[in-house]
Amino acid sequence: MYHSKLDHFPKDFLWGSASAAYQIEGAWNEDGKGPSVWDKFTKIPGKTFKGTNGDVAVDHYHRYKEDVSLMAEMGLKAYRFSVSWSRIYPSGKGKLNEAGIQFYEDLIDELRKHGIEPIITLYHWDLPQALQDEYGGWESRDIIKDFDNYCITLFERFKNKVKYWVTLNEQNIFIRLGYEEASHPPGVSDRKRMYEANHIANLANAKVIQSFRGIIPDGKIGPSFAYGPAYAYSSNPEDVLAAENAEEFNNHWWLDVYCWGEYPKVAWKHLEQRGLAPTIEQGDMELLKATKPDFMGVNYYQTATLTASPLDEVFGEAKENHDGKKGNFVESGDAGLFKRKRNKSLETTNWDWEIDPVGLRIGLRRITSRYGLPVLVTENGLGEFDKLEENEKIHDDYRIDFIRKHVEQLQAAITDGVDLLGYCTWSFTDLLSWLNGYQKRYGFVYINRNETEEKDMKRMKKKSFYWYKNVIKSNGEEL
Ligand code: BG6
Repeated sequence: MYHSKLDHFPKDFLWGSASAAYQIEGAWNEDGKGPSVWDKFTKIPGKTFKGTNGDVAVDHYHRYKEDVSLMAEMGLKAYRFSVSWSRIYPSGKGKLNEAGIQFYEDLIDELRKHGIEPIITLYHWDLPQALQDEYGGWESRDIIKDFDNYCITLFERFKNKVKYWVTLNEQNIFIRLGYEEASHPPGVSDRKRMYEANHIANLANAKVIQSFRGIIPDGKIGPSFAYGPAYAYSSNPEDVLAAENAEEFNNHWWLDVYCWGEYPKVAWKHLEQRGLAPTIEQGDMELLKATKPDFMGVNYYQTATLTASPLDEVFGEAKENHDGKKGNFVESGDAGLFKRKRNKSLETTNWDWEIDPVGLRIGLRRITSRYGLPVLVTENGLGEFDKLEENEKIHDDYRIDFIRKHVEQLQAAITDGVDLLGYCTWSFTDLLSWLNGYQKRYGFVYINRNETEEKDMKRMKKKSFYWYKNVIKSNGEEL
């Protein structure tokens, strides 16, 4: 669809940026914080790039005022950050750690002082280790009440200060990587356990939305979903069907539950026949049906292009690119359902992620057509090597180009009819990329550290910082 004239971005559009506690805060054991599953997992040899961890990260815990003042200088309208559950409840439940919650209150006050809208993510993967040890974390229904209690604590404390809340960050990623691919904690590779844990996470998500309604009736809440819209590799109907399979199993499997409280029928039948469907207890579906998010949070990085896969297909071992050496793509998939192919129309980043701005528009439109909900882009950005040049200059024109092309697609999507609340880039400062160390940089602000040396962690504004500042100032008119 081409438009002769584009709509303007809404006046109150949330031009934002995002982060996550474990990736920026550091202070992993300070002021009463308990350990999270990531504190433990990253210490197991061979799990992360060059053994990196978030013990110190980019020291945001101690430098948050400096970071917020850079946000203010940029004119940021919104900042999405996550709360570390084990700072609030060091053992996941029980006694509240006042120093931990005070840190977030100070951060929120600092943001508000500068007119920046805080968007809180309640869970960005750093589960308290104590709950993993006690009952297996997401594999036990006990987590539903503990997560609810932790969220209620935050709702009560910040109900007059925070309007926008994100429940679970990328449930589809932390569940899949944690329970199928074993590359995230708890390092399990068992599909049955994955689907069970995922169902429990769905219930926890629904429960906190229910609690939220009673405490912050005029607030807005929704999950952040890692949406990779599926394309057919060719116009061969078998490939089209493979792409539909991928939408069903990789996207609707989560989105339909969030928005409709139902599992998609085709996927359910397939999993049930294989003994993989999750256990549904009395009251589960009623709870899922009773809650609906106010918006769908979308983390968008890339699309997926699929071809048909026969039942007896055997896939080579998926080799993930964690070192930024291009060309590691291995075809992977689900035998009998789909196989992922390289999309020949798209360029890739050095980490082999396909660059596809139009895919963002397609994804936003699919959500709008299927669910009719407003959308908040909660993450989008480019992880690349950056070069620190003379006089502390970082010429990240490739990042500007990437974000510009995505923002153009946002405007097209708005013109198409998508109700878009805002756009949070990933990320504001450079940060720890879970499995890829510090060299895969995403920020507008360069942090002077690398995998082996913490250095002075000086904050330096990249070229993209000034560019995005002007985008915000012109409300998206000057790209
Ligand atoms: C999202 C996560 O999956 O993608 C972020 O919510 C993450 O926490 C981002 O950092 C980029 O992924 P990566 O692996 O490049 O850090």
